[in-house]
Amino acid sequence: MENRIKAIKEHFEKEAAVFDTLFFKVMPRYEEMMQALIDALPFRSKDKIKILDLGCGTGNLSQKLLLAYPNARISCVDMAENMLKMAKAKLKGSRNVLFWQGDVRDLSCREKYDCIVSSMVLHHVEGREKPRLYRKLRNCLPKGGVFLCVDIFLSSNRHLQELYMDKWKEFMRANGLPEKKVNNMLRRHQKEDRPVVFTEELEILRRAGFKEVDVILKHYNFAVYGGMK
Ligand SMILES: C[S@@+](CC[C@H](N)C(=O)[O-])C[C@H]1O[C@@H](n2cnc3c(N)ncnc32)[C@H](O)[C@@H]1O
Repeated sequence: MENRIKAIKEHFEKEAAVFDTLFFKVMPRYEEMMQALIDALPFRSKDKIKILDLGCGTGNLSQKLLLAYPNARISCVDMAENMLKMAKAKLKGSRNVLFWQGDVRDLSCREKYDCIVSSMVLHHVEGREKPRLYRKLRNCLPKGGVFLCVDIFLSSNRHLQELYMDKWKEFMRANGLPEKKVNNMLRRHQKEDRPVVFTEELEILRRAGFKEVDVILKHYNFAVYGGMK
């Protein structure tokens, strides 16, 4: 595992116990974005769908998915053991959840999923690995299967990019994060994350073979988007 990914894993291992408290203060419209992803899924609530949650973290998205789709079977993947432990505790009692510790880039699907979802994870995947991963994800879906994702992006315009970063800082400050913590967050973002220009991301998805690529919600640098096989 390369050093940047090791550092990301390490920091989520350390942060797992406080992740939920912290992340709601760091990510604007976190709940709304997850809900928008779920609302965009084209299934009936009683359907026995198979879902793959990439980088499930402490299980927030999977928990909401189970509420919307109580008969779903969800496979939760994350590379950080402590994040998975938190997810297991949160989702305990749900017989239909499977957990797998591993790197999403090494994914090999032995079965097809009706939908693949991910929230705030794929900005960790860099360069050529992104199209490779998207092609792999497409192969894990049946025809008509859906991929939906929440993530952070860049603007292609310098002024807008500065505005997005200012709005993000404003949000963290308004949630009571001290200036030092806000700056630490942004430093970490610079060092560990590899967001791309949003319009390019949509193009990568299309080139990987996804159809009907669309944007469900966008709030400055954060967006919910996806496509169909
Ligand atoms: C910001 S958290 C988001 C967690 C969760 N999806 C949510 O929205 O609350 C990012 C998660 O992605 C995981 N992650 C990052 N890169 C990964 C990779 N290449 N493979 C597997 N998990 C990864 C981290 O361990 C962490 O749990």
